Amino acid sequence: REIVQLGKDGESLPFTTDLAALEGAVRAKVPAGPYWYVAGGAGTGATVRANRAAFERWRIVPRMLRNADRRDLSTTVLGMHLPAPVLLAPVGVQSILHQEAELASTRAAAELGLPSVLSSSSSRTLEEVASAGCDAPRWMQLYWSSDREVCASILDRGKRAGFSALVVTVDTWTRGWRPHEMDRGYYPAAQGIGMAIPFSDPVFRSRLAKPPEEDLSAALEVWQRMPTDAGKSWQQFSFLRDHWSGPIVVKGILHPDDARRAVASGADGIVVSNHGGRQVDGAVGALEMLPEVVDAVGAEVDVLFDSGIRTGADVIKALALGAKAVLVGRPYVYGLAQAGEAGVLHVLRSLLADIDITLGLVGYRSPAELDRDALR
Ligand code: FNR
Repeated sequence: REIVQLGKDGESLPFTTDLAALEGAVRAKVPAGPYWYVAGGAGTGATVRANRAAFERWRIVPRMLRNADRRDLSTTVLGMHLPAPVLLAPVGVQSILHQEAELASTRAAAELGLPSVLSSSSSRTLEEVASAGCDAPRWMQLYWSSDREVCASILDRGKRAGFSALVVTVDTWTRGWRPHEMDRGYYPAAQGIGMAIPFSDPVFRSRLAKPPEEDLSAALEVWQRMPTDAGKSWQQFSFLRDHWSGPIVVKGILHPDDARRAVASGADGIVVSNHGGRQVDGAVGALEMLPEVVDAVGAEVDVLFDSGIRTGADVIKALALGAKAVLVGRPYVYGLAQAGEAGVLHVLRSLLADIDITLGLVGYRSPAELDRDALR
């Protein structure tokens, strides 16, 4: 209601409520290196476009006179009550866009009670984010390192810092082919950006001859040898189960057989995602695979979705196809670039208001009422 009220005289809004248009505004403001690092996709950008095209292929069929004037967006994911089916996706290196980085985005999400997933490539440590003053659930994401002791130490720190669920990203054991980054020579990691969690880790530090503050390139070299280990299989999933007592969500699943493998290996949830189109050029739009994954494992675990969410209608489409909740990536990061914590808050409130209004106009009162019949 507040957002709509502010919108009645457009000048009170900090910036656009059109989250699809926000990318253009940020492009005009932010240097090309960081902008393309965030906005770019793998290769020709075909997967970024496929993510949007997949939403365009579904249309909502609004229903009438169904008494939907009062809505309740709340839902339950992994047994946690959420005020709306929206989470902040793990996005690393947020300090390239705003100095308060993940502290600002986590606080904004918490202000609305929405969970945020802290990237393991974040610019702030687990402990810093934990003490940022947030009541909402905090989840942590892991790039599964080949050094088991470092991995175990990071998981242990996360648990002690109050992160309640683990998101294991399985689509990024090495970076995709990203000409946007290579041609500009812009790699935040090469400057040590996004290394806060490993660099502050006692076990990782014990692997180094000199601390990262004294010899950055040696520390980066040691780190780079860890996550690029490709020799992982579902058998090793038990390592994570052994070192994490809370729920585990596997992020980056597209094929229903992989979803089945993840669940058989002990996952409590799945994120259908193609990493916002950043990994495989020419990949299937993530939404195209959502129904198959829901059919395969939706009865056993919570299926979440990301990659391409920009509007309330997009959220409704993902929910109608069986997602329990969605993760939003670039839009909130653009909000961060525009106005720090207030900018993230504006993006999230705009999205929530859009979901709420659209859901009501479509004739549904809650996410749970939506099913595939709402779409054609
Ligand atoms: C990401 N994403 C990501 N995912 C992850 O598991 N760990 C990470 O550290 C990152 N880092 C990251 C950085 C940047 C700049 C972007 C844009 C994305 C992927 C992210 O969690 C999510 O899957 C996508 O961003 C979702 O797509 P949209 O919403 O950006 O279209």
